[in-house]
Order: sequence, then structure tokens, then C-alpha cells
Amino acid sequence: MMLFSSIVLVVSLLTCQSGLHVSGCDYNCTDKPVFTPSSLVVKYGDPTSATCVACNNSCQDTVSGLEKSQGVVTENGTTLVWTVDRITEWDSALTCYYSTADKQCCTDLDVTVYQPPEHVSISFVHHTGPMVEGHQYQLQCTVENVAPAKHLVVTFYRGEIVLDKLQSKSSEPYKPVTETFTLNITVSKEDNGAQFWCEAKLELGPEGPQPPPVVKSENITATVNYGPKILVSANENIQITEGDTLSLNCSSEGNPSPSYSWKLPGGRASSSSDSVFIIQSVGSDQGGNYVCTVSNKVGTDTVNFSVDVQDGPKLLVSANENVQGMTQGRL
Ligand SMILES: *[C@@H]1O[C@H](CO)[C@@H](O)[C@H](O)[C@H]1NC(C)=O
Ligand SMILES: *[C@@H]1O[C@H](CO)[C@@H](O)[C@H](O)[C@H]1NC(C)=O
Repeated sequence: MMLFSSIVLVVSLLTCQSGLHVSGCDYNCTDKPVFTPSSLVVKYGDPTSATCVACNNSCQDTVSGLEKSQGVVTENGTTLVWTVDRITEWDSALTCYYSTADKQCCTDLDVTVYQPPEHVSISFVHHTGPMVEGHQYQLQCTVENVAPAKHLVVTFYRGEIVLDKLQSKSSEPYKPVTETFTLNITVSKEDNGAQFWCEAKLELGPEGPQPPPVVKSENITATVNYGPKILVSANENIQITEGDTLSLNCSSEGNPSPSYSWKLPGGRASSSSDSVFIIQSVGSDQGGNYVCTVSNKVGTDTVNFSVDVQDGPKLLVSANENVQGMTQGRL
């Protein structure tokens, strides 16, 4: 019986040393191996090291070891030091163990091998040139060659405003991935001229580099076409005295720049294509409805100016002058 159990132990140790998984490990021993540091975050290609004290008390008649996928282990009693000049294995978990006649006690060291994104870019999907107000577009952020994906967070920005924050959906646990993130946005006129960009961040926790690796995309400037909006209210009632200057202001905002057309009382079209319509000295027969129409390729807006021309004191004065003139003429 004793002989049989030592054969099992020898076989199990051979298995460990040949790099296969340590079988029959007990991770809950009271005196279990202790790693320093307790977790490792290493950039791909960098050197690293860790120390394991396999056992503290019950170390009589034990065999200890460290299972690794790369690097070298130097042993000094039950202290094992693992060193790597250049980490090139993406999945680099370590297992430190010791074996007694009847069991094996183990502790794993999590080694996170990371690679900051090589490149981050942003674009609107299937779209170039100006966008149109009220329409939906897809913003796309592409993050190239980043590892490990589970620590990747992508943030979309408009100027300094965060639009959305997305986690990776990749199932690849260790190796670098290239992943595309999308955000649907409905553009408004406020987006005209706005800068859109995204950033990819590897959130590796307190053991990771501080600050965490961040790579930003370039900015893209949105051009949004929107229908004109006349700045004065939809209907304006204007009272003016005959002989005064009539000025109707139909200024509007729109992209591209809108064009203006005017209809005079009685429905006649004016030749004016200005945003402000002016009659230097308005006549009593020039009252009525003036309609301004503003349009660009996205839309149209209209305002109706109802103009009431009143007889004013000036008219009385000039009538008096005429009377006086006539009187003088007669004299
Ligand atoms: C974004 O829009 C596309 C089509 O326009 C749609 O298929 C997709 O489900 C939308 N995604 C989200 C997250 O709303
Ligand atoms: C017309 O109105 C706009 C907007 O309110 C204003 O900026 C502009 O100065 C006005 N033009 C005139 C000639 O009054």
C-alpha cells in the first residue's frame, strides 16, 4: 500500500516537471505556498519575476516546485524564484506547490500579460460628407491589437462630453484582439462642427501601470446640414407711420446658408433676395402682408409680416406746408 502511494507521487511529480497541469492540488491547505507579489501585471516583452515560499512549517520530507510556461526557476530550500527576461507567453499562469507523502498543496499566481492598443481610429460607418439633422448615423471605433480584451474599455466623446462607455465583448482571454465598437447617434444642428473621438483604456487595476494605458483616436469633425429657422417669431404685426423706413428682418440660421424670397402685399413676388427687406419711405398704399420664405436643401421656413401703415403727424405738417404754400402763392 505504501509503495503504491509513492509510485503515484513520483508519477505526479514527473507530470508537473514536464509542464502539464499539477493534478490533485489542494488550494486550501493551512500552510500553503505564498507568492510575492500576490499578482503580477506585465507588459508583453518586459522582464518580470516573482518569489514563492512553498511552505513555512510542515516542510519536513516535502518536495516543492514551480510550474511555469516560460522563464527560469532558482531554488533555495523551499524558496523558489521565477525570472523571465522577456515575457512572450500570453497565458502565463504559475503554480507553486509542495508535496508530502499524502497530499499536494498549491497556490496559483495570476500573471496578466498586457499590450496597449497599437492603434485606435474613429469613423462614421458608410458615410462621408455632410450629415442631415434628425438622421441616425453609426460611429465606429476600431481598437487594434490589444490584450487582454476583458480589461478594455472604450469611451466615445463629443468634444469633452462622454457619449458612451463600452466594454469589450471578445471571448479571447489572453491574446491580442482587434475589435470594433459602435455607437448610434442621431445628429442635431448642435453637432455641426463638433469633434468626435474615442479612446481605448486598459483598466488593469492597482497592480497595473499608473496611469493605465490609454490610446486616443484622431478627431473627426461633423458637418451637419439643417433646415433654416427664422429668428423672429412666426407672425409679426408691425405698425408704422407713412414716410418712415420699413425694415422687415427675416434673418435665419441654416446649413448650408439659406436663400431668401419675398412676397409683397397682393401676392406679387419681390426681386429682393436679402434677409432684410427695406422701404426707405413707406407709402400709405404699401401696407398689407409681406411673406418671407427661407429655404435650403434640407428645409423651408416662412414668416408673415402684417404691416399697418398709419397716417402720421408728418403728413399733417406737410399738408399744412402745402396749404401755407398755396396761401402764399395766392398772396
Ligand atoms: C444601430 O443602428 C443599426 C441600424 O441603423 C441597428 O441595426 C442597430 O441595432 C443599432 N444599434 C443599437 C445599439 O441601437
Ligand atoms: C436682423 O436680426 C438678426 C437676428 O436677430 C440680427 O442679428 C441682425 O442685426 C438684424 N438685422 C438688422 C438689419 O436689423
